[in-house]
Amino acid sequence: MIKLIWAMDKNNLIGKENKIPWHYKKDLQYFKNHTQNQDVLMGKNTYLSLKTYYKDRPLPFKKIYVASNTLNDNNEYVLVKDLTNFLQNYPKEKDLFVCGGSMIYEKALEYADYLYVTKINEEYDGDAYFPYYDENNYNLIKQNDIDVLSFCVYERKKK
Ligand SMILES: NC(=O)c1ccc[n+]([C@@H]2O[C@H](COP(=O)([O-])OP(=O)(O)OC[C@H]3O[C@@H](n4cnc5c(N)ncnc54)[C@H](OP(=O)(O)O)[C@@H]3O)[C@@H](O)[C@H]2O)c1
Repeated sequence: MIKLIWAMDKNNLIGKENKIPWHYKKDLQYFKNHTQNQDVLMGKNTYLSLKTYYKDRPLPFKKIYVASNTLNDNNEYVLVKDLTNFLQNYPKEKDLFVCGGSMIYEKALEYADYLYVTKINEEYDGDAYFPYYDENNYNLIKQNDIDVLSFCVYERKKK
């Protein structure tokens, strides 16, 4: 199952200068609860951003797939050069959390079985946006509202 996880503001903004523009402890905890010790996929920019955030600490995932055509191999991650092929052939019985950023969400959306989106009822400044998607293709299966945060889970409608 391919699961996209992200947080966005009212305008679908997700990032600024390769960082997250806000700091909500509850959302960080939510992200951690879902992705810790899980297999994750992210783009080069998000990976480098997380490395800055974690400094010398190891990233808390099981297996990390990093999409890039410029990074070198590294024993921390598995390099994904052909993202379409990777997503098309990802085993259905295994869970993969797609953790961004914009470019990777855009490619992964059509393969997404579940969307874990934290909607932030605020407006921020930034430069990276979640790509357009049609919520009508999904059923809302969970929603938990805490202050300005709305933690939503959507499941793709069966065809
Ligand atoms: N709010 C949230 O939940 C959230 C979550 C994650 C990230 N973000 C934010 O999103 C922003 C980063 O997004 P971004 O779009 O700039 O970067 P990104 O998606 O993290 O990474 C982009 C890089 O991925 C590689 N890539 C893209 N398409 C590929 C493909 N088809 N095949 C192989 N590699 C591919 C390329 O690396 P090469 O140039 O090396 O080829 C590209 O430069 C940051 O501001 C970050 O903080 C927000």
